[in-house]
Amino acid sequence: MIKVNENIILKPISEKDTEFIIESRNEKDIYLTSFSNFPFYDFQHRKWLNNASNILDYVIYYNNEKSGRINISNIDFQNQKGEYGIFIIKKYRGLGIAFKASKTLIDFTFSNLNINKIYLKVFSDNIKAIRLYEKLGFEKEGVLKKEIYKNGEFKDVIIMAIFKEKWMKENENSI
Ligand SMILES: CC(C)(COP(=O)(O)OP(=O)(O)OC[C@H]1O[C@@H](n2cnc3c(N)ncnc32)[C@H](O)[C@@H]1OP(=O)(O)O)[C@@H](O)C(=O)NCCC(=O)NCCS
Repeated sequence: MIKVNENIILKPISEKDTEFIIESRNEKDIYLTSFSNFPFYDFQHRKWLNNASNILDYVIYYNNEKSGRINISNIDFQNQKGEYGIFIIKKYRGLGIAFKASKTLIDFTFSNLNINKIYLKVFSDNIKAIRLYEKLGFEKEGVLKKEIYKNGEFKDVIIMAIFKEKWMKENENSI
């Protein structure tokens, strides 16, 4: 468990969260921003959980209610990098939860694991998420053009990343 502040807690994901994850990931606005197919089934989630290794994966609690999920996946210790992902369900958006949870988990990752780079993939039209990532300090590394076919169109995917050195400079008080 990681305490973000008085209201926000990150708890390691478990089997018990399956229903919450399936319901959330099949919400239109979340599945449209994700790279997986629709619908997303509980057996797919269970398979992912059972095979999960090299991952930090948490349900985000806001005032003891499940409000979203955050993770650093594909952790690659050889190249010292990992992939960050997040969603917050509609009801809890705009409260600063994503920003605060992300800041805490990125801090945790850079200070506890031998990780030098955290990267992410986002659809180029997901402006809300891109603003969040820029606010956290992520910088654009490149674009994969027409990478994913979703909702009747080929969509561009932006890759963004942040390095430990920059994070530590910009967040001196946190690490
Ligand atoms: C993107 C998402 C995680 C933001 O969560 P959130 O808890 O509402 O975000 P926060 O309240 O912490 O906001 C942090 C920053 O994000 C950006 N942001 C959040 N909502 C925004 C909006 N409606 N419009 C523009 N920017 C927005 C802003 O930069 C904001 O900082 P500010 O409040 O100082 O302007 C959430 O909208 C979400 O889960 N969307 C659907 C799933 C998704 O897109 N996941 C990412 C897939 S790559």
